[in-house]
Amino acid sequence: MFITVEGMEGCGKSTQCAKLEEYFTRLGFDVLRTREPGGSALGRELRRIVLDPQNTDICSGSELFLYLADRAQHVATVIRPALENGRMVICDRFADSTIVYQGYGRGLDPGMLCQLNEVAVAGLWPVLTILLDLAPEQGLSRALARNTQDKACAAEGRFEAENLAFHTRVRQGYLTWAALHRPRFLIIDAAQEPDQVFAAIIRGLEEKNLV
Ligand SMILES: Nc1ncnc2c1ncn2[C@@H]1O[C@H](COP(=O)(O)OP(=O)(O)OP(=O)(O)O)[C@@H](O)[C@H]1O
Ligand SMILES: [Mg+2]
Repeated sequence: MFITVEGMEGCGKSTQCAKLEEYFTRLGFDVLRTREPGGSALGRELRRIVLDPQNTDICSGSELFLYLADRAQHVATVIRPALENGRMVICDRFADSTIVYQGYGRGLDPGMLCQLNEVAVAGLWPVLTILLDLAPEQGLSRALARNTQDKACAAEGRFEAENLAFHTRVRQGYLTWAALHRPRFLIIDAAQEPDQVFAAIIRGLEEKNLV
């Protein structure tokens, strides 16, 4: 089983991915928790570049190709081999992030992005995508509070530095995109406490007969 988790900065993706890993490991699954960007050796180098807040001059096109290179490498060398070995894969961000950030956020053509995503994923799509929906102000305030505690996260704040209008387009973009792909998406209200968010995820998985 291949599950992805999506949503804006600070909505709680990493928090919920850790809970999902623990939950499915307890059920006896061999779980690989991974993330984009940075789920492969090459990707870790790309992650440093693409999330570095000091890289203020990355144009939309090169940003797109950095993410696609990360994804192609991640799918080919990490995700597909894990699934072929019978492992469950939980991925913190995946192809939907490209549609939403580079499409709805930066204004690149969604049709073109879909085609390029296909090159990167080579037919490998998750059975379920959990969208953690949160007001942009809340996500940003969580992310910024975390970054004051966590230096590693602060060094990855290039998107957090975008203005509220960008994050509002991202939030709306996710909701619009999820509505177009309803069967694959589980939309969760991420404004609740972490344990309540997790309980809502598990209820959603049960309703979709995935657990
Ligand atoms: N439901 C929640 N309510 C309040 N705070 C939360 C909740 N979930 C996570 N947090 C806290 O908010 C901050 C951001 O959470 P987290 O790092 O999981 O978000 P993220 O979606 O992975 O962010 P990013 O996109 O920047 O990686 C962390 O400090 C985390 O402890
Ligand atoms: Mg995270």
